[in-house]
Order: sequence, then structure tokens, then C-alpha cells
Amino acid sequence: MYEDKCVVIGVTGGIAVYKALDVISALRKKGVKTKVIMTESATKFVTPLTFQSISQNMVITDMFAEPKAWKIQHISLAQEADIMLIAPATANVIGKVANGIADDMLTTTIMATKAKVIFSPAMNTNMYENPIVQENIEKLKRFGYEFIEPDSGRLACGDIGKGKLPKPEVIVDEVLKNLYPKKDLVGKKVLVTAGPTKAPIDPVRYITNRSTGKMGYAIATEARDRGAEVTLVSGADFLECPKGIELINVQTNSEMREEVLKHYKNSDIVIKSAAVADYKPKNYSKEKIKKTGDDLKLELERDNDILLELGKLKKNQILVGFAAESNSLLENANKKLKNKNLDFIVANDITSKETGFGSDNNKVFIISKNGKVDELDTMSKRDVARSIFDNILE
Ligand SMILES: Cc1cc2nc3c(=O)[nH]c(=O)nc-3n(C[C@H](O)[C@H](O)[C@H](O)COP(=O)(O)O)c2cc1C
Repeated sequence: MYEDKCVVIGVTGGIAVYKALDVISALRKKGVKTKVIMTESATKFVTPLTFQSISQNMVITDMFAEPKAWKIQHISLAQEADIMLIAPATANVIGKVANGIADDMLTTTIMATKAKVIFSPAMNTNMYENPIVQENIEKLKRFGYEFIEPDSGRLACGDIGKGKLPKPEVIVDEVLKNLYPKKDLVGKKVLVTAGPTKAPIDPVRYITNRSTGKMGYAIATEARDRGAEVTLVSGADFLECPKGIELINVQTNSEMREEVLKHYKNSDIVIKSAAVADYKPKNYSKEKIKKTGDDLKLELERDNDILLELGKLKKNQILVGFAAESNSLLENANKKLKNKNLDFIVANDITSKETGFGSDNNKVFIISKNGKVDELDTMSKRDVARSIFDNILE
């Protein structure tokens, strides 16, 4: 998917230089072509040879080195880049670019490129909070340069505060989002639900299910990357939400219902991948239920059927449900599609160990209300998400 894409990574002289290697490695695994420009300071931390090995390309450090090709490099790289990523970005390089200085290969290439430039600053908290640095960042943002906000935490210098380079996966996610070739959901509002819900028994205990939310998060990320405005209502409080998605964490079926109904009217596409609890304890105990020598009987009552309700309220929305079945997969899924007035249903067989709950892969059928059945091979949940939107947009 990213084979024809090129990211030029500018590496500058911060203590987090070594982390850029993981970013490059992850981008390469996605098929992205990576070309590295290091500032002279960056080479004092990690050698260009290391970056050369990881990026599988020559690393450029010196603007005046004997050219290896006839092309003028700062122009050719500036033109070749689909994205320029500066990670880690020092206070110095941010200041230089903000003030029009182009005195080395990196700053010159930044100046010469028409590609989007994303800075991932990393520095000591006091440096980051310095009003001069902040003003430079604001100025660059006004000119359309993008920034990945640094993390807070314990820094290399021992200080605690903002200034850490975010995890490689956060930086990679931001780059891939920008490189994503399909932008066919621009202007669309997509509502996704994910994860399990919890049905409380008492203040300590609850009933839940094995859903991890991975499928829903993959759907939300796919929608975001295709340009949609995404709201994710999630019962999975242990997954990190990708940037640029409105995340609403909920616990119970009722909370999920309330949030979904709040956003339903204004949504164009609604994908309900959450495994919402069908039953809840009839009598919630405010006090912790004490252990006795006897068995404990819990009476359960039906909880809200949110999908059924959405099907009834449906106007122009495209409504997609999930059917996690352990038997008669297609038959049960088709019944659910009709009974709940859905446009599509994604049916998966949860008995397979390689796919389904908790796994990074899934094996599904996408069934449309027109009777089309798209049987997908086993694939990553992200690829399933892509196929769901391809089917919707077909
Ligand atoms: C050990 C060490 C660590 C440094 N870490 C950082 C850093 O994390 N962020 C930063 O902005 N500058 C850091 N600096 C300062 C930069 O290396 C210095 O500003 C340099 O001029 C940056 O050059 P460049 O922007 O051309 O790479 C560090 C310096 C040293 C000696």
C-alpha cells in the first residue's frame, strides 16, 4: 500500500536520536521508502552507518560532499519526499526553520520541499517550555508545518515534564495517516463502537466478555485515515486511542446506548463492533456481596438492544452490525441483518483460535442487505476494516 511512498527523515542532535531507528524500521516494514538526512550534531549520537543499515539507503550528512549522482540532492530529496518527518527535532532546528535559516542539508531540504513537514520535538522541559521555542512552534504551525506533541514523563536528563519523544508507533501512525492513499471519507462522520461492556453485580464485581476492542479501533483508525471525522465509543479502556479520533470511554450497556444515541443523528456511517452485554444482574447490590457457605444465584435481565434501536431510528445513516457466532454463522448473521434493519453485517466465527477475540487477525464475511456476500480470507483487523469501508462505498 505504501510501496510508492517516500519519507525523508530528518534526524537532529537530541538524546532521542536512537529512537528514530525504530521509527524508520517500522516505516520500512510497511513498505515505505525511507531516506535519512542527519545534522552534524545527530552524527555525534549515532553513526550514519546505523541509519544507513536500517533505512537501506545512503544517509546524507554533508551538503557539500562530492555528489554521488548528477542530481542536486537537497532539491531531489525535497521533490521525492511525500512527507518529511523531523524526529527528533531539536529546539535548534525548529528555531532555524522558523527563522528562514537554511545552513545545512536538512534545513535546506525543509525549505525546498512542497511536501508536508512533520516535526516531532524532543528536548528538556525547560527548553520546550521556553517562550522562544513555543513562539517558533506557533509560527511554523501558522505556515502549515505540523507537530507531534511530545510526551510527558521522566526525561533523559532526570527532569520530569514534557519533552519526551513519543513512542515510535505514535510517530509512525501520524506519518502513515498522512500517506494513506484513500481519502474517500472526507466530510463524512463515522461513529464506531468497540470493546466489551460491563454489567456490574456489586461495587467490586461485574460480568463482561472477551472482546478487546481491537476490531473497533482498527475500524476507527481506517476511517480517520480515509479522512472521516470519527467518534469512537469504547468499552475497552486498555487500548491506546490513535490521535485525531474523538474517544468516549464507557462502562455499561446504558452508558454506551446514551453516547451512541447522542451521536447517531449526525452520523453518516455507524459501525457497531462493540460486544455489548445482552444481560445484566437484575438487582445491583450497592454493598459488596459477602461470601457465605452457600451457592450464589444471580438473576439476569435483558439489557438494551442498542443495534435494534438504531435500526428503528435509522434515516440516512449506513448502519453496520457485527455478528460473532459460534454456530450457523451465515444463517444467524442474515437473520440479524434483517431483524435489525442493517445495511451490512460483518459475521465472524469466534471459535477459531487464529482469529476473533483478542487476535490481531480476523476472518469474516461481509453481507450486504442486497444479498451480496463478500467472504474475506484471514487478514489483519486493519485490512478487514479497509474491506468494510470498500464495501460500504462501493
Ligand atoms: C548530550 C546532549 C543531549 C542533547 N539533547 C538535546 C535534545 O534532546 N533536544 C535538543 O533540542 N537539544 C539537545 N541537545 C543540544 C543540541 O545537540 C544542540 O542544540 C545542537 O546544536 C543541535 O543541532 P541540530 O539541531 O543541528 O541537530 C543535546 C546536546 C547534548 C550534548
